[in-house]
Amino acid sequence: MNVLLINGSPHKNGCTFTALSEVSGELERQGIETCIFSIGTKAIRGCIACGKCRETGYCSFSDDPVNECIDLMKKADGIVVGSPVYYASPNGALLALLDRVFFAGGNAFAYKPAAAVVSCRRGGAASAFDALNKYFTISSMPVVSSQYWNEVHGQTPEEVRQDLEGLQVMRTLGRNMAWLLKCIDVAKETVPFPEKEPVRHRTNFIR
Ligand SMILES: Cc1cc2nc3c(=O)[nH]c(=O)nc-3n(C[C@H](O)[C@H](O)[C@H](O)COP(=O)(O)O)c2cc1C
Repeated sequence: MNVLLINGSPHKNGCTFTALSEVSGELERQGIETCIFSIGTKAIRGCIACGKCRETGYCSFSDDPVNECIDLMKKADGIVVGSPVYYASPNGALLALLDRVFFAGGNAFAYKPAAAVVSCRRGGAASAFDALNKYFTISSMPVVSSQYWNEVHGQTPEEVRQDLEGLQVMRTLGRNMAWLLKCIDVAKETVPFPEKEPVRHRTNFIR
């Protein structure tokens, strides 16, 4: 089993990476393979709502990491998305990526356990955490929790390493995700994934 951890920070080895590394270290100790994927610093455009992904399951733009990310998420058994907090939200580049990843490929991620992790200097962690969890809960992905909301505090990796509670939250998250992955793996022989209703209703609010 393997977990993909997406680092949504422009800093490859910054605070978000430090938090994700604590999660991945615990996952590895529990026998789960991990891979940290960094979205990098190049431009990631927003969704232009062209709808072409409905036919292909991939974004029509292929000049940024979106389609690579869709493939990595399809192959992963579990997913952790990490973001720095920018103005009490996730990083804009990460949101642009996730909008397109989930709009194009979201159907393929159902029943993969997922978790969000946020890193901030001081405030806004809860609302950023909330925004990230929305992608999972509209995609039938079981959300893995920890002993507190998944946030670390600090301006530098050194400061994050001093956030002992935050690091413990990350390790607990890793253990909880490993446990759920193992439960799903054992159960898949006897408990089928839930059936979807044949027709998916879309009731637009027009009045
Ligand atoms: C544009 C911008 C906005 C930020 N907004 C917040 C914020 O609202 N709250 C906060 O506590 N820190 C804020 N920060 C600080 C980062 O969240 C913090 O330094 C984070 O841990 C950096 O993670 P990284 O090293 O993985 O990039 C902001 C930083 C930037 C660059």
